[in-house]
Amino acid sequence: MTVNDYFMSMQYGTAPESDSAARQWLASHQSRFTQFIGGRFTKADDNATFETLEPATGKVLATLSQASQGDVDAAVKAARKAQKDWQAMGGHARARHLYSLARMLQKHSRLFAVLESLDNGKPIRESRDLDVPLAARHFLYHAGIAQLQETELAQWQPYGVVGQIIPWNFPLLMLAWKVAPALASGNTVVLKPAELTSLTALLFAELAAQTLPAGVLNVVTGDGAVGQYLVAHKGVDKIAFTGSTEVGRLIRSQTAGSGKGLTLELGGKSPFIIFDDADIDSAIEGIVDAIWFNQGQVCCAGSRLLVQESIAEQVYAKLRARMKTLRVGPSLDKNIDMSAIIDATQLQRIRTLVTDGVSQGGQLWQPTETTLPGDGAYYPPTLITGVQPASTLAQEEIFGPVLVSMTFRTPQEAVELANNTRYGLAASVWSENINLALDIAPKLRCGVVWINASNLFDAAVGFGGVRESGYGREGGLEGIYEYLKPASWAKAAPYRAVLSHSLAQAHAAGDSFALPAIDRTAKLYIGGKQTRPDNGASLPVIDSEGKIAGHISLGSRKDIRNAVAAARKATGWQQATTFNRAQVLYYLAENLSYRADELVQRLARLTGSSTKNAAHEFELGLERLFTFAAWADKYDGRVHTPPMRGVALAIPEAIGVIGVICPDDAPWLSMISLIAAGLAMGNSLVVVPGARSALLATDLYQVLETSDVPAGVVNIVTGDGSELAAVLADHDDVDSVWAFGDNELAQLVQQRSVGNLKRTFGNDGKAIDWYQWSGADSQLFLRQATQIKNIWIPYGD
Ligand code: NAI
Repeated sequence: MTVNDYFMSMQYGTAPESDSAARQWLASHQSRFTQFIGGRFTKADDNATFETLEPATGKVLATLSQASQGDVDAAVKAARKAQKDWQAMGGHARARHLYSLARMLQKHSRLFAVLESLDNGKPIRESRDLDVPLAARHFLYHAGIAQLQETELAQWQPYGVVGQIIPWNFPLLMLAWKVAPALASGNTVVLKPAELTSLTALLFAELAAQTLPAGVLNVVTGDGAVGQYLVAHKGVDKIAFTGSTEVGRLIRSQTAGSGKGLTLELGGKSPFIIFDDADIDSAIEGIVDAIWFNQGQVCCAGSRLLVQESIAEQVYAKLRARMKTLRVGPSLDKNIDMSAIIDATQLQRIRTLVTDGVSQGGQLWQPTETTLPGDGAYYPPTLITGVQPASTLAQEEIFGPVLVSMTFRTPQEAVELANNTRYGLAASVWSENINLALDIAPKLRCGVVWINASNLFDAAVGFGGVRESGYGREGGLEGIYEYLKPASWAKAAPYRAVLSHSLAQAHAAGDSFALPAIDRTAKLYIGGKQTRPDNGASLPVIDSEGKIAGHISLGSRKDIRNAVAAARKATGWQQATTFNRAQVLYYLAENLSYRADELVQRLARLTGSSTKNAAHEFELGLERLFTFAAWADKYDGRVHTPPMRGVALAIPEAIGVIGVICPDDAPWLSMISLIAAGLAMGNSLVVVPGARSALLATDLYQVLETSDVPAGVVNIVTGDGSELAAVLADHDDVDSVWAFGDNELAQLVQQRSVGNLKRTFGNDGKAIDWYQWSGADSQLFLRQATQIKNIWIPYGD
């Protein structure tokens, strides 16, 4: 035998990591766990129990308790009790606590890594080198956030008690992603880990309790029913969820109208795009990280491989050769690349999806060299080529080590294929041509883009999706706002004048009045044109003295549909330079000021306020336009600097088409504020004015026409607010609905948003003082008018 023969025939032996410390910890609890509430485990009770298994062997690891409604009540109560003091102790004190938690993770890193691999089945190499260090990093990063909170986030306040529900694929890391920002910003937490993987959360809570005040972090265990208790609980101010899109949709619907904050991190079917000028060998390693990391059980897994046709055969050949070398084995073996699937149910789900999928077309390939251990839930690395874009394999999240592939010819086709999904979490772009990569990145509809890399994560960089991958960001400075609200909103200052007008009253007033001067019947404004409503109907608008001030068109479903289509067409506004958008807003203010006298008179008449007050409201509207014009070219993202050879450009992108339901309060000011915020960030709007602002809105569109606002960017549909809101919330081509009004409106819009999981924003029925405006208010609107895309690019050496 030659040296080469020896070299080529060498096999890896096993290199098992010791599990003794983890077994000892389990034994110290007799492998039985209760709930962790108010700083300690609850007493043994007669709750139902369930077993948590070792996926790599199928053996029982521990017995857990299914939290009851009473347990969840107790946990929320403990969190509530601790919250005030936790907030009041100040940023620096909280920073010290978070620092201790990071250190605690580092001090016990081996124990956490082994316990995680036992409970979840992931390779120890991953839990040791990624999950645990990155969890520690999240606490360290957020210690810094707590430290800076009082100076940098002075106008913001925590929500209060946050309910957090996490999945099984990264149990400890998801805990860190959720708990660190929540605690840093002064919230207290009730965390529900996934029923399959609760152990590291319980270990974390137990060790954290050595330093953390009782009640600040509570852990309740059990299945989806426990999650539901938390979601429904009146004492919870915000829900943060990571998991399946299906459950995310359910939670959106259940929290609708409750006034609870909500962030959703859901599934994905992320594209991995290789252009013909890519460094193919690097791309192959990228694929290994993208789809075989954590057995592909990663929400942002690069599970759809898109390869330029001219290099497809070469890529597949190299990929198959690489797949042959992937080693599958028990999770505690330090020499393996892939380990077990989380459980038998998930394994079966993968098998079924693959078998059914391949029956629709595509060539399945699995390396014959791969040997799977006898016990436990294992699935081999799998490649399916020649998949049709519309097939189940290309559309459904498989959540396993299965890569499906198709080819493209042009960059434009690559973008079309990449965006041909209901999801929008991440994307990976491979090209040696930086111009091409940076041309493609903004065209991808997703929250994260990795250039010549995949599955990079860091606490300094926000993570999260668009479309049915959910909303909200975790990590980065952008992530901290998910746990804060402006202090002015927290106080919910009552609106100073009580308005009693409604459309119903206007209906009732009818035409039986002795009619004074009717100004005109205002039309709708759609696609830059004044149009008559589809149903040809109109409504009187009643002024403060009960007289008819004018008529507005009664818009309907069809008008909203036309307005949405016009708004969608007007995407050029998004591409307009920020400077240009600022100019247009200033110009709008300028042109409105020409008509000040007339508008102030109308406002005074509609609201019954004095001319002086109306003039004040009018002037504040102009000021608001200036504020958002000022921000248009200054709200410009960040460059995050994760600790690696690269930077992440955190770029705020317009949401797209926003439906805006305006309130009756401060009718002019509120409408102008909402429109200005949406426009400044490049969105196209379908505006439904409040009953009072309806006539003012029709004055507004005449000014829009002369202020260089492109056709379709602002569309105005007057009519019955809640009826039109329902149509907007149902509409699949609307990306977000801003609903300002009573709680019923909030509930209606949130409930109906579940179809395409569009974002929603509003006052949730609470009173808002539109006059008192702080910097945080502007920021809140700007954030709601954008979503951050993080583009990771190689940088430096
Ligand atoms: P899941 O969404 O059912 O579970 C996630 C968490 O939500 C768990 O803690 C669970 O107990 C809880 N939960 C379940 N039903 C609930 C309800 N009605 N109300 C409140 N909380 C509830 O995910 P599951 O069943 O574990 O996995 C199913 C599929 O979901 C996977 O095959 C995968 O496609 C996807 N998934 C996606 C994840 C992601 O990170 N995007 C993570 C886990 C699963």
